[in-house]
Amino acid sequence: MTRPAQEQPSLIAELRGERQVRPPFWFMRQAGRYLPEYQKLRAEEPDFLRFCYRPDLTIEAALQPLRRYAMDAAIVFSDILVVPHALGSDVRFVEGVGPMLAPIRTPEAVPAWDADRFVAQLAPVYASVSGLKAKLPAGTELIGFSGAPWTLAVYMVEGRGGTACEQVRHWGWRDGKGFGRLIDRLTEAVIEHLEQQIRHGADAVQLFDSWAGQLTEAEFHLWVIQPTKQIVAALRRDHPQVPIIGFPRGAGAMYGTYLAITGVDAVSLDSTVPLSWAVTTLQTGGTVQGNLDNLLLMYGGQALDEEVQRILASLSGGGFVFNLGHGILPHTPPDHVAQVADQVRAWTRR
Ligand code: CP3
Repeated sequence: MTRPAQEQPSLIAELRGERQVRPPFWFMRQAGRYLPEYQKLRAEEPDFLRFCYRPDLTIEAALQPLRRYAMDAAIVFSDILVVPHALGSDVRFVEGVGPMLAPIRTPEAVPAWDADRFVAQLAPVYASVSGLKAKLPAGTELIGFSGAPWTLAVYMVEGRGGTACEQVRHWGWRDGKGFGRLIDRLTEAVIEHLEQQIRHGADAVQLFDSWAGQLTEAEFHLWVIQPTKQIVAALRRDHPQVPIIGFPRGAGAMYGTYLAITGVDAVSLDSTVPLSWAVTTLQTGGTVQGNLDNLLLMYGGQALDEEVQRILASLSGGGFVFNLGHGILPHTPPDHVAQVADQVRAWTRR
């Protein structure tokens, strides 16, 4: 595929507010189990956490989807749970169940902060960032990422994801100060983790707050907005050129408040966010990313084409990065991803 250099849109420029010829695109979980070549690579290291600490494998996993679909950006191949792991938590990925952690539920159990140990533990992830950066096609930009403090706290307190967040919210109500210590510790760790990825070559960073949709307004301010605001302020101080995308999945009407108060450059929208509302409430204050339904991507066909067109037509008038509302599901046919990538590439802003 040959494209004139000036027509390759830049994710970074779009995030900074400079409209590109068409919206740049990438997909959450663009690497992973829906790709047969990933399944083959994964067989080399069956323990997923160990896989995450093998730069030779993670670099290859991140490059695989680019060879097929030439997205405008790559994302570092890792997992949000390497942060609790590097802080000393016992983290396991159980086949068919998902991630499991030894739960912590008291302030005394909050891990101590040892920056040198943390960075040493995650050295293979940072080696993957710089190694991947060196192998990217010209014009393809690199996204680093971290779980946000609230979502990491959910996994650390509940011991797993996908729960009603009962234990973690109880702790916040019973002993807000003690729980705040865990959030503060995670905030420090996330800042360090993102700083390291930026130093090793990440051009932009995304914060995944997958469980942000479980909270009342008051909790959302305390455990989602405040830590995110601190992370954004710390990164801006040292790396003002690096755009930050926040993904408070399920935040609903709180998306606007999140964008305004945290200072992120862009918000990633889950599939439930109405597009007309995103235009009037969110695109006036920043760039939006999203929000194709991942189940519709798996289903495919004409319904998929129509939804892609609807999203492109609705959001292209403002700052916009085409993406999904949540990660690619394991049983998604790779051809459906190609079908969407071709449609986005063919789109021009008028
Ligand atoms: O987007 C990408 O391509 C980059 C890689 C990436 C992974 N996980 C790889 C992965 C990213 C950005 C993540 C983020 C992540 N991990 C989140 C935030 C986004 C979201 O989905 O809400 C969360 C909550 C996790 C925790 C996690 N890791 C879960 C729930 C699972 C699935 C467990 C299962 O077995 O179904 C994982 C494992 C995981 N992370 C896989 C991949 C490719 C699958 C592991 C495998 O290959 O067996």
